Amino acid sequence: MSDVSPAAPLDLDDLTALAVDIAREAGELARRRRSEGVTVAATKSVIADVVTEADREVERLIRDRIAAARPADGFFGEETGAERGTSGLTWVVDPIDGTVNYLYGIPHYAVSIGVVAGEPVPSEWQQRVGVVFNPANGELFQATRGRGAWLDGQRLAVSEPSEAGALVATGFGYDPATHDGDFARLRRVMPFARDVRRAGAASLDLAYVAAGRLDGYFERGLHAWDHAAGGLLVLEAGGLIGGSPDDAPGREMTIAAGSALFERISTAVYQ
Ligand code: IPD
Repeated sequence: MSDVSPAAPLDLDDLTALAVDIAREAGELARRRRSEGVTVAATKSVIADVVTEADREVERLIRDRIAAARPADGFFGEETGAERGTSGLTWVVDPIDGTVNYLYGIPHYAVSIGVVAGEPVPSEWQQRVGVVFNPANGELFQATRGRGAWLDGQRLAVSEPSEAGALVATGFGYDPATHDGDFARLRRVMPFARDVRRAGAASLDLAYVAAGRLDGYFERGLHAWDHAAGGLLVLEAGGLIGGSPDDAPGREMTIAAGSALFERISTAVYQ
């Protein structure tokens, strides 16, 4: 796969600073709307898969800020869809990841902003910048390709599990028809897990793997916007992220961990 460079010279620090600014502004709007009260605006794939008016409003804000600052870049968002750019870069955005937590008032949701070069699909993109911001507790995780992953000024590194086993996170998607398979995979991982977490926001699961707060994570059914930013955090923290064997992360499977645990989870999930 070739390394695609955008047409104009790219300052990754400027790009990261812009993504951080936009994530903070968007997160502040999400937090304010949450404190005013949130209701479901519509359902999406199945009845449990919801969108709030805040998801839409926050994505519009992010989209407008990007269009004003970098009009040649493309955009690919969970709520408002895709628009091609001409610069070679695309912003891959989940305005509120963890929407169900957000709806219920659980302070574990995030603005997730990834910037990728090349086609904005996981098998082809090259991730440049990833920012995951949880406005409920103020934590901002950021990564720039080749420059590490950071949480509020502290460099992040993935962990390897202790003798007690791996602390593993997963998720179950919204469609009940997929749950049997999800539970079967989890059952195969449990023999080497010390415990399991299902916290409800994939971007934060990935940020937590990068920070060593989780040893590993796997989930079926993720969309590009769920892992565009968090995936770069994991890579820049020295971890691996992938999908089905030898494949990019995606709808079929996403696995993230340090190298030894990555192989163990992959073997168990595909056994
Ligand atoms: C969801 C969350 C959840 C994961 C789902 C995602 P959303 O994103 O990340 O943890 O299990 O697969 O769709 O809908 O809250 O943006």
